[in-house]
Amino acid sequence: MAMQLDLPDTVAEEGAELVAAIDDIVARHGAKRGELLPILQDLLAERGEISDLAMQVVADRLGAAPSEVQGVVTFYSFLGVEKRGRHVIRLCHTLSCVMAGTRDVAAALEDELGIPFGGTTPDGMFTLEWANCIGMCSTPPALLLDAEALGGVTPAHVREVIAALRAEGVHG
Ligand code: FES
Repeated sequence: MAMQLDLPDTVAEEGAELVAAIDDIVARHGAKRGELLPILQDLLAERGEISDLAMQVVADRLGAAPSEVQGVVTFYSFLGVEKRGRHVIRLCHTLSCVMAGTRDVAAALEDELGIPFGGTTPDGMFTLEWANCIGMCSTPPALLLDAEALGGVTPAHVREVIAALRAEGVHG
């Protein structure tokens, strides 16, 4: 029996609709952990995104840990299943990184790319996203550039990385 999620009032209405959509999908596939991937694929196809709340609800329905669901969703982003840019930059916003300067790096990324976090550049080259700890806490702040982890990043460093990728995109 699935637990009821305790949703804050502000998201309750939107959440109820999302929960209903997820319950439909889960009913089609069966509430089995082995169905996690197809369930997420259907959810993405229907909603165009898999939000944090959606991950929590799916985890709840399948009796899985939210981190397990998030791991699969993250893996999918590397495969480009979601509509994202050619390069996905995921900046860690967990404590060690934040204390080491994530905000300055985030500001440089937003400024350089002209998009906020969660956005994709109009040319489809870059998507900016937040990530939870990516296991690079010994060299913060850290980010994932596609599947590559970079530690000790600075505003100047990320501007260089973007310039290099842009040059590659023009010439490659
Ligand atoms: S806190 Fe950022 S990588 Fe661990």
